[in-house]
Amino acid sequence: MSGIPDRFTPPVIAPSLLAADYARLGEEVRAAEEAGADWFQVDVMDGHFVPNLSVGLPVLESVRAATDAFLDVHLMIENPDEFLVAFADAGADLITVHQEVTPHLHRDLTEIRRLGCAAGVALNPSTPAETLSEVLPLLDLVLVMTVNPGFGGQSFIHGALRKVRRVKEMARRRELNGLRVQVDGGVGPETAPRAVEAGVDVLVAGSAVFRGSGSVAERFRALEEAAAGAI
Ligand code: DX5
Repeated sequence: MSGIPDRFTPPVIAPSLLAADYARLGEEVRAAEEAGADWFQVDVMDGHFVPNLSVGLPVLESVRAATDAFLDVHLMIENPDEFLVAFADAGADLITVHQEVTPHLHRDLTEIRRLGCAAGVALNPSTPAETLSEVLPLLDLVLVMTVNPGFGGQSFIHGALRKVRRVKEMARRRELNGLRVQVDGGVGPETAPRAVEAGVDVLVAGSAVFRGSGSVAERFRALEEAAAGAI
């Protein structure tokens, strides 16, 4: 399978497993699924590109075995080209690499699609949208980071929404109507409506889904309602 399935009608809330309880990961995934989640993000960190370590292939394989949901793998790692086959084989439906780590982005995106996965690029807050001008037709998704990557629970960088609008405009001018724009970091009931108003299609949320008062289902539904309220 390649590309992003048509079943995902924006705005999509995509729980980030970074904030989940790894002692009960399968239960956490099921709880979010019961509330309606059908797209999860797996954050992979190598301690070099970002100052943190998270999870890798065994966790993706386990999550793949536990759900049929769309699995979005966000590679916050150096040398992602060395791991594309492994993450595709482990069950990724979408693989997102950072623009900042590879001089061979065109080659990496081509390879991700050859492996049958949807292809995404993530842009750190300081990276301009224009850096994607030569690869936009190779993309299924652009992840506009709304925090500096490495940790959950950070504050939303509202200025990044100007970049969301820029990417949407670049895609519109080139009639790339299937391109999805995603944000990740600091997404909650207060920031989700602003993101949707800026044109965001997919909102990644970790802490707002897996942390805080109430249940995973209640928090997921609150996010969905906040995002839908902005349409
Ligand atoms: C940053 C991570 C986080 C995580 C979600 O490197 O990618 O953005 O997915 O973080 P919060 O808890 O802010 O939703």
